[in-house]
Amino acid sequence: MPNTVIVGAQWGDEGKGKIIDVLTEDADVVVRYAGGNNAGHTVFVNGQKFVLHLVPSGILHKRKLCVIGNGVVVDPVGLVEEIQGLRKLGVRVDGNLVLSETAHIVLPYHRALDAQREALKGKNKIGTTRRGIGPAYADKAARVGLRVIDLMDAARFESKLRERIRENNGLLRALGAKPVPFKHVLGQYSAAAALLKPFVANTVQLLHKALRDGKSILFEGAQGTFLDIDHGTYPYVTSSNTTAGGACTGTGVPPNCIDRVVGVMKAYTTRVGEGPLPTEDAALGDLLHSLGREFGSTTGRPRRCGWFDAVVTRQAVMINGITELAVTNLDGLDTLPVIKVCIGYRHGKTKFDHVPSDTALLAQCEPVYAEFDGWQEPIGNARRWKDLPAKARAYLTAITDLTGAKLKIVSVGPDRRQTIFV
Ligand code: GDP
Ligand code: IMO
Ligand code: MG
Repeated sequence: MPNTVIVGAQWGDEGKGKIIDVLTEDADVVVRYAGGNNAGHTVFVNGQKFVLHLVPSGILHKRKLCVIGNGVVVDPVGLVEEIQGLRKLGVRVDGNLVLSETAHIVLPYHRALDAQREALKGKNKIGTTRRGIGPAYADKAARVGLRVIDLMDAARFESKLRERIRENNGLLRALGAKPVPFKHVLGQYSAAAALLKPFVANTVQLLHKALRDGKSILFEGAQGTFLDIDHGTYPYVTSSNTTAGGACTGTGVPPNCIDRVVGVMKAYTTRVGEGPLPTEDAALGDLLHSLGREFGSTTGRPRRCGWFDAVVTRQAVMINGITELAVTNLDGLDTLPVIKVCIGYRHGKTKFDHVPSDTALLAQCEPVYAEFDGWQEPIGNARRWKDLPAKARAYLTAITDLTGAKLKIVSVGPDRRQTIFV
């Protein structure tokens, strides 16, 4: 398999975990390149549900190397819990999971700052996952972050932590929040460090050796294109480059070693947290929620739902260099008589065929819709393109044509087997 980046083409939760799991079959290495445990990637295997936050979604395949790259921000205590949870479920993680020594770590003061800043913003909050992701990336950029390599050196970690906690507790107090207790954090993180030590490696060297050995690498994106710190609906974004470019900086693998980019998108649109969602439709949300669908994998929050937005996905195709598309959750639309697709925006007399950079303006844009006939039958058992109802095929062809990339995969249910290769 060519070295492949998997990227979310909307606002996250597109079904990347499921697609990664399916494609891992033909890959040797799976590497996460951005985000932290704000991500929640769901994989179903034989009816059993796994939600992965930091560990790559390839872990459920035996004998595949799974790497947490340098671009990820790692909560060591969360990672230990995730590893232990996987072990309990009988998933092998020892010898096939590797953690970059240069990944930055998330500390309790990051989480406390995240929560307090959100609380102080009131109705202007971002709606973060409160996992401390923003403050951890801010420290990385400010060159005051602690890395896995620091965590592995007890004396260095203690002294850096002492210094960082002093400053951050001052900040927390100034913001009206409780300081974090140094001794407790030191104890908790030192224990996690001991458990994580066997997983830590120089992942840049390891990935380049894999490349030299002719192994194929799958780059697992987290979040989605419009949550990207540069290309998303700022400030309603996460704090990393979630787009395809992040695959290089977040792993140390250069652009000329990447052969293809696969964009994952739902057959409709969802978003968790605040910020514009031009095609938002309460009735569609009610329908999906009544089916028990579209609740956040990390926070359990109901996701906001809307119609498929071709303006958004077309821009995602452009920014990421997506050549192939995986469309998921097509079965979510099974019962609808009419399905809408946004083909442009209108703001007063101005028309847009791209996502305007001004987030406030985007929030005021009215979608221009095209309408499609629904197929109104269950499609969860379809395994080949020709098993799909003609109206479902017409819908898929239309939405992928609008985005300008080729349809490669259609997902008609959460399980591995509910996948159609086009
Ligand atoms: P990710 O963050 O991109 O990996 O996506 P999430 O796992 O957060 O959310 C996607 C949700 O859709 C999960 O609950 C998946 O199990 C589910 N899912 C993925 N593909 C399909 C599909 O084709 N049909 C259905 N019904 N569920 C799907
Ligand atoms: P996966 O990888 C959906 C959203 C949050 C919030 C914003 C900023 O599962 O697709 P953060 O905690 O990152 O500072 O929150 O980004 N967000 C996600 N939404 N899927 C995700 O990850 C997300 N990770 C962050 O809801 O709006
Ligand atoms: Mg998710």
